[in-house]
Amino acid sequence: MPQDYRIEGYAIVSVEGMIADAQGEFPPQLKNDADQRFFRAALDSAAAVALGRITHERERNLGRRRLVLTRKVASLQPDADDPQALFWNPAGATFQAARLVLGLRQGSLAVIGGTEVFGTFLAIGYDAFHLSRAAKVHVPHGRPIFDGVGTDATPEEKLRMAGLKAGPPRLLDPAAGVTLTTWSR
Ligand SMILES: NC(=O)c1ccc[n+]([C@@H]2O[C@H](COP(=O)([O-])OP(=O)(O)OC[C@H]3O[C@@H](n4cnc5c(N)ncnc54)[C@H](OP(=O)(O)O)[C@@H]3O)[C@@H](O)[C@H]2O)c1
Repeated sequence: MPQDYRIEGYAIVSVEGMIADAQGEFPPQLKNDADQRFFRAALDSAAAVALGRITHERERNLGRRRLVLTRKVASLQPDADDPQALFWNPAGATFQAARLVLGLRQGSLAVIGGTEVFGTFLAIGYDAFHLSRAAKVHVPHGRPIFDGVGTDATPEEKLRMAGLKAGPPRLLDPAAGVTLTTWSR
């Protein structure tokens, strides 16, 4: 039976395929208004968001359902400080179990990183990945979008190896050289 929900990834990367600097901070030069507008609109239409524990703690939740990956719980546990958030340790519960406890039955799960979260869902299977590239921004020694990017593969090779195909690139910001490509099955 076809599934009623979709898993969609969102990231903006530097020329080298990095999403953050070596300290794990978002490089200000990677922030782009056109990309942010696309990203915010996607979050607004998503049924839920999947993210790492560090980003969950840093970015205030505006009322969205959140699936928060962490090793601080054994399997699945509500966040006592956020009624919309569910902690999930993939080593202790399957994604299907997490999805059902979260209440995601239809609509889109927006996967917003960081590195290990993007990689976890690469193995689970994205229905689509929206990859923005900032062609003028260099972050040579940062955190990659996926493990192995920057040493043995590009982000595009990782997505292709995961069974996704590139759609036509869309120029989001010509002056900044930011393009968006949606990869899908
Ligand atoms: N350019 C972009 O598009 C983009 C996208 C996303 C993030 N970023 C940037 O990247 C930085 C945040 O990334 P980050 O990697 O430092 O933090 P993060 O992904 O928000 O959180 C990392 C934490 O998530 C948990 N985690 C992740 N995968 C897990 C798994 N498979 N199993 C169990 N736990 C898992 C662990 O939590 P515990 O320590 O609790 O076990 C880990 O320490 C920020 O600067 C952010 O702005 C950029």
